[in-house]
Amino acid sequence: MGTGPEPAIASLATEDERVAPPEDFVADAHVRDADVLRRADEDWQGWGAEQAGNLRWLAPWQRVLDWTPPHAQWFVGGQLNVADNCLDRHVEAGHGEQVAFHWEGEPGDARALTYAELRDEVARCANALRALGVRRGDRVNIYLPMVPELPVAMLACARIGAIHSVVFAGFSAQSLVDRIEDAGSRGLITADGSYRKGRVVPLKEAADEAMARTDVVDTCLVVRRTGEPVAMQEGRDHWYHDLVPTQSADCPPEPMDAEDVLFILYTSGTTGKPKGITHTTGGYLTQVAATARLVFDLKPDHDVYWCAADIGWVTGHSYIVYGPLANRVTSLLYEGAPDHPAPDRLWEMIARHRATILYTAPTAIRSFMRAGPEHPAAHDLSSLRLLGTVGEPINPEAWRWYHRHIGGGRCPIVDTWWQTETGAIMITPLPGLTHTKPGAAQQPFPGIKPVVVDNEGTPVEPGQGGYLTLQRPWPGMLRTIWGDDQRYRDTYWSRFGEEVYFAGDGAKLDADGDIWLLGRVDEVMNVSGHRISTTEVESALVDHPSVAEAAVAGRADALTGQAIVAFVTLAHDAQERSDLVDELRAHVADRIGKLARPAEVHLAPDLPKTRSGKIMRRLLTDIAEGRELGDVTTLANPDAVRELAERARQEATSRSSGNSE
Ligand code: WTA
Repeated sequence: MGTGPEPAIASLATEDERVAPPEDFVADAHVRDADVLRRADEDWQGWGAEQAGNLRWLAPWQRVLDWTPPHAQWFVGGQLNVADNCLDRHVEAGHGEQVAFHWEGEPGDARALTYAELRDEVARCANALRALGVRRGDRVNIYLPMVPELPVAMLACARIGAIHSVVFAGFSAQSLVDRIEDAGSRGLITADGSYRKGRVVPLKEAADEAMARTDVVDTCLVVRRTGEPVAMQEGRDHWYHDLVPTQSADCPPEPMDAEDVLFILYTSGTTGKPKGITHTTGGYLTQVAATARLVFDLKPDHDVYWCAADIGWVTGHSYIVYGPLANRVTSLLYEGAPDHPAPDRLWEMIARHRATILYTAPTAIRSFMRAGPEHPAAHDLSSLRLLGTVGEPINPEAWRWYHRHIGGGRCPIVDTWWQTETGAIMITPLPGLTHTKPGAAQQPFPGIKPVVVDNEGTPVEPGQGGYLTLQRPWPGMLRTIWGDDQRYRDTYWSRFGEEVYFAGDGAKLDADGDIWLLGRVDEVMNVSGHRISTTEVESALVDHPSVAEAAVAGRADALTGQAIVAFVTLAHDAQERSDLVDELRAHVADRIGKLARPAEVHLAPDLPKTRSGKIMRRLLTDIAEGRELGDVTTLANPDAVRELAERARQEATSRSSGNSE
C-alpha cells in the first residue's frame, strides 16, 4: 500500500457550489425526503429486508443477516431465481410486450427484444446449455461483444443455476485462459467476432488460442455476429443459431438459495493475479434492484434508460443487465464505439429513442468535451431527465460541461462511487433530494455506512482526508475471492480490522461532511475507469525476452484519468533498437489486452531503488508526472535516477508540443 492518499482532484475549491434538484423532478421522485436516509441508518437490516421484499421469493428467508466478520450471509434460507425476477414475473404481470432492450449494432443494424421475447430466448439458451451438459454450480465463461446474446447468456446461466464469469471482449487470449483456469469453467460462450470502430475483431480466434492453452473447456457455444469464417472444432464447438432456436422455451427457473453464487467477475488487485470477485444471488439482486430504482429514479412505464458501459465490467452487470431488468425498465444496448461513425453517435441515438437517463464515465465525458458541444447541440436531447457518472473521480469542469451541454442545465447528476466488490452503488447523491456538488459523490446510499479514517482507523473530522472504509455489511457485498478466502481477508478486512471493509480509495470529507473521492491509494491504476494493477503490467513486460526488470506507474492524464507509464531495463543480451518500445507496448496488449497497453515505455539504465533493492514507486510516479525530484542521494543509484527523470522530461516536452503518437 502507498504512504497515503494523494489527491487526484487538484482543487476542492468548489465545495460551496451546489445544484438543487429541479422542482418538477422532485415532485415525481422516488426519494424526496431525507427521512429515508435516517430510517435506513437506524434500522439498516430492516431497510435491507424491505428492499428484498420487492423481489419475488420462491421460499421466504429465516434470518435477514448472519454476520461472522468478515463473512456475511443475507436472507438466509430464502430461495429465488434471478432470471425469474428479471423476466418471468414481469411477463406474468402483463408486461410481456414491453421492450426490454433496444439493441443497436455498431454498423447500424438493430433489434428490439420485448420482455416476453427475452424470457423465451433465455429459456431456450438455458435448455441449450443443459443439452451441452452444463449443470447447476458449473462455471461458464462468457466472452462476447455487446450483442443481445450477452445478457441472454448471463440470464440463461442464472436460470439453471450455473455461475457465469464474463470476460470483457477487449481482454486477450491469455487473460481469458487465466480466468478460465482460476474458475475451472468448462463452458465458454463466445462469438465469431465483433465490430469496433468499423473494424472486425476476430473474437473466436482469441477464444481458440485460449482453448488451445488450457484443457479445462470442453464445450463452446459460438454466436454468429460478423459472418467471417472461423474454425469450429468437432464435438467441442457449437453454433448458437443451430442449437438455441430449436430448444423448447419451457425451462422452469431453478430455485436458488439466496447465498448461492450468481457470478464471478475478475478485477485487478495489487498482485499480478486478478481476483475472482464472488457475488451471490439474493443480496446482490436486492442491492442492484434497490440502487437502480432509487439512484436512477426508474419509472418502468416511462423511462428509456441507457447505461453506456460494457457488460464485461461490473457496471454493465449491475446497471445494464440485473438492476434495470429487475425494475422492468426499457433500456438501450449499444455494441460499438461512442464516436463511430461520427462523434455524435450517442446524441443521435438518444434523440431517436427519446432516452431519459444516461449513465457513463468521466473519461467518456471528457472525450465528448474535446469533440465539442456542437455535436450534442445538433440533436434534441430534451428527453433526458437524469445523468449519472461512474468509474473514476469526475473533475468539476467535466461535471459542469455534462450538466450544461448534455443535461441542458435541467438534469440532476448522480456521481456514483462503488466497486466490483461492492456489487452496487454505495456513495451517491439521491437525485430528488441531494443538492449536488460538482466532483463529489457526497452521501451514502440508504443503509450504507462509509467512514473516512486516518492511518490508525480513527474517523477523520470534516475538512480532512484519509482512507475510505465501509463499516457495516451490505446485501450486495462480495462474499469472497473465488478459491482464495485468505486473500479476501487480507485484501479487504485486515487493514483496519475484521469488521471494517477497506476499499483501497482515498477520500476527503468537506466542511459539510460530504464525501469526495480522491483515487486509489494502492498499486492499482485507473485508466478510463478501468482498474489495472501495476504488477500485472510489470509481469507482462518481464515476460518479454528483452526485458530484465520493469516498473510501472500511473501518471495523471487529462483524458483518461491516469495513463500507464512503464520503466524498463533491458536484459544483458538485448539490443536497444528503435522498434523495441512499440514491441513492448504490443506485448502488453497481447498478454493482457489493449486497455493495459502503456502510453509510454522508457528504457532505463536502472530503476530507482532503495539500498535494500526495493523499487521506489512513489518516485516513479513523480518522474512520470514530471515533478521535481527531492533528495535522491539516499537511493542506491541516484545518478541513474536523475538521468531517467531527465529522459522522461524530454519526452513529456515533445509530447505536449504535439509530437506524440
Ligand atoms: C473508482 C467500477 C471516484 C474507485 C464501478 C473504485 C470512482 C474503482 C467512482 C472501482 C466515483 C468508481 N468517483 N472514483 N464515482 N466510481 N471509482 O471495480 O477507485 O471497476 O475503487 O468498479 O473505481 O472500479 P471497478
